[in-house]
Amino acid sequence: MKKYFQSLAYISFIAITFYAIIKAIKLYKNPFSLYENPLVWIALVALILVILLKELVSIVAQQKAEELQLEKDGITPEEIDRWAWLKNLINQWTQAKAIEDEGEIELDHNYDGIKELDNNLPPWWLYMFYATMIFGVIYLIKYEVFNGDNQIVEYEKSLATAKRELANFKSTSKETIVDFETVTVLTGESDLNRGKAVFNLNCAACHLKDGGGGIGPI
Ligand code: HEC
Repeated sequence: MKKYFQSLAYISFIAITFYAIIKAIKLYKNPFSLYENPLVWIALVALILVILLKELVSIVAQQKAEELQLEKDGITPEEIDRWAWLKNLINQWTQAKAIEDEGEIELDHNYDGIKELDNNLPPWWLYMFYATMIFGVIYLIKYEVFNGDNQIVEYEKSLATAKRELANFKSTSKETIVDFETVTVLTGESDLNRGKAVFNLNCAACHLKDGGGGIGPI
């Protein structure tokens, strides 16, 4: 019963987190911006961690079960190789031949006593090689066949978007925006006095009251 609830909790967690991440990717403008949406990253990391932990726990549990079985069969714990699973894993990903078995894969080339082995390509390397092929095909199709945007076009597009967003911001902002287009010189007596007070309060410490320069320049 306990096991049943554990699996139920695990599956619900995976499903809900996965759903939330997909939803966030669809909904948010920059779902992978760490500053704007840290929750997306937290959910992603949690999802991966939980899956990895679950795998680890089941590997360890299986190991334990096998050890118990071996003990039952009369093999002492000292004879059991605790790291067998790791060795198996490494073996699967490298497919390396043990030195004592190298005779099996020796080619009959013999150059001045230098011999050659016919090793399998290590799967970790082979899969990366396949990945580069897939990447290459996608890249070729996207940029050479369908004329995807190059860096300059991408830059110009994002510049145009930024300009549009700025114009939008300016037209909808409730506050009055002061920039080089809208700024005006204030020459009235009261404005000048206020400015002086602001300077004395915030700037005179470094630029001096008469603007003569201290820590800050003249
Ligand atoms: C903590 C000290 C400090 C305060 C306070 C300070 N400044 Fe400065 N300011 C400096 C320094 C130092 C520089 C020179 C920076 C540099 O050259 O990189 C500088 C440079 C400047 C410059 C450029 C001057 C030039 O000739 O290049 C202006 C303009 C300026 N400050 C205005 C202000 C105003 C206005 C205030 C108040 C709102 C202010 N500063 C407050 C230290 C200060």
